[in-house]
Amino acid sequence: MNPRPSMLHLNLFIMGCGHHRAAWRHPDSAVDRLGDIAYYEALARTAERGKLDAVFFADGHAALDVNDGPRWFLEPLTAMAAMARATERIGLVSTVSSTFGTPFHVARQLASLDHISRGRMGWNVVTSMFDVEARNHGYEAMPPHDWRYQRAEEMVNAVQALWDSWDDDALVHDRQGDFVRPGSVRAVDHRGEHFRVDGPLTVPRPPQGHPVLFQAGASEQGRDLAARRAEAVYAVAYDLPAAQSYYSDIKRRVAAAGRTSPVPIMPGLVVYVGSTEAEARARQRALDELLPVASSLRQLGGFVGQDCSGWALDEPVPPLPPLSAFKGPQGRYGTILRIVETERPTVRQLLGRLAAGGGHCTMVGTPEQIADQMAHWWRNGGADGFNLMPPALPRDIDDFVDHVVPVLQQRGLFRRDYEGHTLRDHLGLARPPGRS
Ligand SMILES: Cc1cc2nc3c(=O)[nH]c(=O)nc-3n(C[C@H](O)[C@H](O)[C@H](O)COP(=O)(O)O)c2cc1C
Repeated sequence: MNPRPSMLHLNLFIMGCGHHRAAWRHPDSAVDRLGDIAYYEALARTAERGKLDAVFFADGHAALDVNDGPRWFLEPLTAMAAMARATERIGLVSTVSSTFGTPFHVARQLASLDHISRGRMGWNVVTSMFDVEARNHGYEAMPPHDWRYQRAEEMVNAVQALWDSWDDDALVHDRQGDFVRPGSVRAVDHRGEHFRVDGPLTVPRPPQGHPVLFQAGASEQGRDLAARRAEAVYAVAYDLPAAQSYYSDIKRRVAAAGRTSPVPIMPGLVVYVGSTEAEARARQRALDELLPVASSLRQLGGFVGQDCSGWALDEPVPPLPPLSAFKGPQGRYGTILRIVETERPTVRQLLGRLAAGGGHCTMVGTPEQIADQMAHWWRNGGADGFNLMPPALPRDIDDFVDHVVPVLQQRGLFRRDYEGHTLRDHLGLARPPGRS
C-alpha cells in the first residue's frame, strides 16, 4: 500500500461567486468583482491564512448558459500569475486541457508560473467534455474519448520532457563566458501520434522540476491515466461508500503501476457552516431560495426524464423509478436517487443540492460537526483531504478558515503552519530528478 499522508490536505476550489448556482444572486455576492483580480488575490490570501495546500481553478472553453450566472471570467493561468505575487506559500493549481493545448505552449506557461510562484504550481490535466468547446478550437465536435486520453498521455510525456530539456544546474551566468553550461540544454525530439516537438523549451527547468500533476478522471481511461501519471487526484464522491470505492480503486491501480508516491486523493466538499446546526441549515436554505424556480425545475425534469413543473417546492420529492428503468445518463440520475433515498429532501432541497456541487459531498453543521465528518472520511479510507467547494465566496471560505480549520488543527488533523515552500512540500511529493 502506498504511504498515507499524516494530515489532511485541503484545497480551495475557486469558482465565480461560489459553487451554488444562485450564489451570484445574493445581495452580498461579489458578482460585480469577477473581473477584478484583487478579488482572486484576496481569496488566495484567505486560503493561505488557513494554511491550505492550494487554490484551484477549473476551466472551460465555451460560454455555457451565460444567463444562469458566471462560471468563467479571467483566464486561469493569467489570473494565477497575479495570485502568485499576492501570496508566498500557498500552491496554485490550474486546469489546462490536453485536447486544446499543445505541449510547447502548456510547458512554457506552467514552467513560467512555477518560476513566478517559486515552485507552487500544479497542472490539473483534463481532456474536456463538450462539443461547444471543441467548436471553439477547430473541431466539428468533441473528438472521441479514447483519442482524447491518448493525446492527454502523450501531452504529459512531451510537456515533462520539455521541462527536463534544461538541467537543474544549466544556468552558470558567467559574464565573461557561458550563460548555460555546455550540453545542459538539449532538444527533446518528441515524435508521437499527436505531436511533433523538437525542443528545447525556452524556459529553464521549473523550481519543482515538474509542476505537480493533478488528474480528475472518472472513466476507466481517466482512472488509468491517474494511476500511471497523476501525483494528486481530485474526485467526485457523493457519500462515504462512493468515496471509499473510488479511493481504494485508485490506490490499487497506483500500486499496480508500481508507484510508491502517496498520490493524495481529494474529493470535492461543499460545506455550510454555522455556529449552530440550525444556523448552518438556514444559510443553505437562504441560498436555495435564490434559485429561479421554473428553470431549475425544467433542468431537474431533464435529469429525471419527466415533467417536474407541477412539483410542490416544499413537499417531499415524489417517488422516482429505479435506475434500471431510466433511459437517460445514468451517473446523475443515480446520484439523485441516492440523495432522495438517504436525505428524503423536499423538492427545493433537492434543487439546492444539485445546484451546489451537483454530485459532490455536502456537509452542513457546526465547525465541530464538520470536523467530525471530515475526520470520519479521512480515517475510513474515503479521502486524503478535500477540495473545498464553498457555496458562496468569499464568505464561506472565510467561515471555513476562521472556524473549521482551528478545530481540525486542535485535533491534529491539519497543519498549523507550512513546513515547506513548494506545492510538492505541502503534498509530501518528491521532486523529480532532472537528467544531470
Ligand atoms: C474537481 C474536478 C474538477 C474538474 N475540472 C474540470 C475542468 O475544469 N474542465 C474540464 O473539462 N473537466 C474538468 N473535470 C472533469 C474531469 O477531469 C473529467 O474530464 C471528467 O471527470 C470525466 O472524466 P472521464 O472522461 O474520465 O469520465 C473536473 C473534475 C473534477 C472532479
